[in-house]
Amino acid sequence: MRIVLVGPPGAGKGTQAAFLAKNLAIPHISTGDLFRANISQQTELGKLAKSYMDKGDLVPDEVTIAMAKDRMEQPDAENGFLLDGFPRNVSQAEALDEMLSTEGMKLDAVLDLEVPEDEVVKRIAGRRICRNDSAHVFHVSYKAPKQEGVCDVCGGELYQRDDDSEETVRTRLEVYHTQTEPIIDYYKAQGLVVTIPALGKVEEVTARSMEALAREDA
Ligand code: AP5
Ligand code: MG
Repeated sequence: MRIVLVGPPGAGKGTQAAFLAKNLAIPHISTGDLFRANISQQTELGKLAKSYMDKGDLVPDEVTIAMAKDRMEQPDAENGFLLDGFPRNVSQAEALDEMLSTEGMKLDAVLDLEVPEDEVVKRIAGRRICRNDSAHVFHVSYKAPKQEGVCDVCGGELYQRDDDSEETVRTRLEVYHTQTEPIIDYYKAQGLVVTIPALGKVEEVTARSMEALAREDA
């Protein structure tokens, strides 16, 4: 399956993607995680991305689309993928459609994770991620690691993302409403959008998403 996950910052995209990708045996492709890996490896792309991410702005389309395309062309993504954080505006959505149609492929579903704004603020405020891999995500009260400050998965150090400060989160939410939300209408016109109420336990949200995908697949 080829699936896109959308939702505001802190909605739980990364958290859900980890479980969904495992259940569906497809790779989880997060442009945010790819940028953060570049930042920790101090690549040119990482330096460029950081200057936008720290302000809460989108990284320019040209580099983002090229990076996403490169990742989607890896052999493990041949039979499907779960996109998290891409596309993030209508031009990226159009680029993705074009990319897929050239290969005779199309998306199967767009899952829209719906969470009230006061909840995403709480989720972001308590989030801690792993230095080794930003896909290892915890929360100080909702998903506390067994040992404070230590990743349960790999033993790495847990820290707070640079773009999780109150001011940057405000910009990220604004960018989401103005630039990313329009892709929901873009995909609604293609009949692809399934709204998933994303309040409640992580496993409940995963179950709702799996049920929705089974319906879409039927
Ligand atoms: P990105 O990394 O994609 O960040 P985001 O979209 O702002 O989303 P987050 O990762 O903050 O939240 P999430 O929905 O993954 O939530 P999570 O699962 O962690 O992008 C970062 C930046 O990179 C962008 O601002 C931009 O600059 C750049 N970028 C990325 N892609 C780009 C693109 N395509 N184009 C241009 N620029 C791009 O969960 C949050 C917390 O809540 C965690 O602590 C988790 O444990 C907890 N939680 C999750 N689910 C639940 C639950 N059900 N109940 C309680 N707690 C929960
Ligand atoms: Mg994420």
